Formats: sequence, structure tokens, C-alpha cells
Amino acid sequence: MDKPVDDRPYSPGLEGVLAGETALAKVDGANGRLMYRGYPIVDLVRGGTYAQVAELLWTGEWPASAHLPTAPLPDPVLVALRALPADAHPMDALRTATSVWGAINRPGWPPTVEQARTLTALAPSALAAFARLREGKDPVEPDFELGLAAGFLFQLRGEAPDEAAARALDAYFITGAEHGFNASTFTARVITSTQSDIASAVCGAIGALKGPLHGGAPSEVVNQLHEIGSVERAEQWLDDALDRGERLMGFGHRVYRAYDPRAAALRTVAEGMAGMADWLKLAVAVEDVALRKLEQRHPERALKTNVEYYAAAVLQGVGLPPDLFPATFALARHAGWTAHVLEQASANRLIRPDVRYVGPAERALPGVAASS
Ligand code: ACO
Repeated sequence: MDKPVDDRPYSPGLEGVLAGETALAKVDGANGRLMYRGYPIVDLVRGGTYAQVAELLWTGEWPASAHLPTAPLPDPVLVALRALPADAHPMDALRTATSVWGAINRPGWPPTVEQARTLTALAPSALAAFARLREGKDPVEPDFELGLAAGFLFQLRGEAPDEAAARALDAYFITGAEHGFNASTFTARVITSTQSDIASAVCGAIGALKGPLHGGAPSEVVNQLHEIGSVERAEQWLDDALDRGERLMGFGHRVYRAYDPRAAALRTVAEGMAGMADWLKLAVAVEDVALRKLEQRHPERALKTNVEYYAAAVLQGVGLPPDLFPATFALARHAGWTAHVLEQASANRLIRPDVRYVGPAERALPGVAASS
């Protein structure tokens, strides 16, 4: 193999590479700070709703109040969801619903705030419908009085959600709404940069988020804690997992070198939830041991708690089945994805980076005379 002649700098995984500009979120990994359009995430969780945060991301304005109910599903979307096997991955169901919606509505270019609202409002209805259909139950129509998080719980269960649970899920939605150039958002921007439509961009984003290194961690956090089972078993279990070269779910982040501020905000929310005491106690105790072990094993790289760790606690507390966690994260991220679609379209340039070729040098195809 020839030595590469292209000696321009290359960063695997694009780590540290500036690949665009955004006015949406500032992710300050070194200091563990996250702001949406300048507002710290803790303040948004304390004083806002997901509907307000979504409007802030889409329009730049902080509305005094905002209401975003879930949307009814068009018939073809329901037909497609009914056709899926009961054991389909919920992320695949969500992506399918978005794709069908795009095929029948053909959202045009450039993307609009209205399109962003519609897709964000449709997603919880689609996920709730799939969750019921796979159990042989009928989907539930939206309650337009309820906000997105409460409306999702209502459509999932068919009964009015507990107010505290709805508020906790809304807080989770706020922390999950936006996070810079993560893999799924970047995917959405790449698709948008080709002047493709917003539904295609969101489908691609859902596909990227499905991977366990991105959005699949919270359900694995729950499994991890179930397997550990008790504080006494934590040391041994974590050592064994790390000896096997496994990753501890809910720890480490490409950008944060300090404690993930979203994890801190969600820990506070989880602490305020009724019925969480034992599970949360275990989570907090295991976190301490895990952080110590990760520091011992990787003194060169600060591996701290990430958002998924306490997201797992909140989603568990709200009573969602773990296999819906990744898709619920996707519901929250719709505001950010679609805001990035709007931002990309507003100053579009086709995203087309370069790649260094490291394959064989030019050579003759066997049995074919070389061309000159
Ligand atoms: N447990 C154990 N070791 C870890 C962990 C972890 N959670 N995270 C990173 N490391 C180790 C790696 O093994 C690697 O060690 P090595 O150099 O000896 O092989 C070193 O730290 C650097 O790891 P990278 O993979 O280079 O770090 P990267 O920035 O690519 O990874 C990621 C970030 C994917 C989140 C990683 O930390 C991880 O896999 N965490 C567990 C999964 C998880 O919690 N995902 C949710 C992320 S948050 C989100 O997507 C919303």
C-alpha cells in the first residue's frame, strides 16, 4: 500500500474539528455548561416548558407561554405502524412514521417553523401508537389540552398522566432538546444541506440516534443497574466489566470533560420524584464507584457521568418501559434537529468534506490490458 501523500490534518471521528456555526446551543465541555441561545440549561429546566424551549430554538424568541400538543396521526401513518411486527425496534417505528408523513405531505424547500412544529408534535403520537399496537391495543387520539410530554404519556396509557410525572418528563425533554453537532444533528444538517426535505433529515437523524454509542445508553444503564443489583456488588461488577474491556453505560462523552450539566439537572428532577428512593440510592452509589474506577483506569481522559445516566432514572420513574427510552430521547431531540434544519437552510452550503485515500495505488485489472 502506498504511503498517504495527502498530509492535511485528519481527526478520526472529526473530534475537535469545527464543522459549522450555530446560534442554537453552546456546549462548553471543559466547564460542564450547556446553554440554549444563551440561557443555561438549569434555568430552562427550572423556569420553562418544552414548548417554550422548542419555540426558542426554532424562532429565537422566548415566549411568555407556549402550547404544543401532540398531533393526530394521518391514516397512512397508522396503516404503516399497524403493518410493523410487534418486535420492531421503536426507533424503526418512529423513523417509519416520519418517513410516511414525509411521503404524503411532501414538505417543501426551504423548511419552515410550521413543518418543524408539525413533525415534533407528530412523533410522540406515533411512538405511543406503536407502543400500544404492539400490545394489541388501539391507539389513543391526542388530548389537545395537554403539552407534548403529558400528551405522550396520555396516548401511551389512555389515561390522564400524573402531574409530577408529566412535569418530570417535560424536564427530560428540555434537557434532551438540543446538543450542538452530535452525530444525529450533524446527519440532519448534512441531509438538509443537499436541499432535501425536513422529514428526510429527521429520518436520518433518528437512524443515527439509534446506535448504542449515541442514544441507546439509558436502557442499558437500567440493565447495568439491574445486573449490579446492590451497592455491595458494585465494586466487583464494575471491575469485571472494565477488565472485559466493556464500557460503563452512562459515562464518558465526546465533548464533556466535566460533569454533564444535563445529568445534574435530571438528578435533581429524579430526586424530586415519588417512589424513586431505592433505585436512585443504588444509582447514586454506583455512580460514585464507577467514577472512581474510571479515573483509576483512564487518568489521561476525564470520564464523567453523562446525561443518559440520570435520564434512565427519570424515564424509569415516569414508568416508561426501557425499550422505549431511546425513542423517547428522539422525541425530545426533535426540537433541536428541526431547529438545526432551519438554521442550515437559512445559510446553506452543501456539506461535502474531503477524505484521504489510503487504498492501493493505481494498478491493472487482472486480464485487462492497462490503459495508458
Ligand atoms: N466506560 C469505560 N471506558 C470508557 C468509557 C466508558 N463509558 N467511555 C470511554 N472509555 C474509554 C475508552 O475505552 C477509551 O479507552 P482506550 O483509549 O484505552 O481504548 C477512552 O476512554 C476514550 O474513549 P473514546 O471511545 O475515544 O471516547 P469517545 O469520545 O469516542 O466516546 C462515548 C464517547 C461514545 C460516549 C463513550 O464515552 C462511550 O461509549 N460511553 C458509554 C456509552 C454512553 O454512555 N453513551 C451515551 C453518550 S451521551 C449521548 O449520546 C446523548
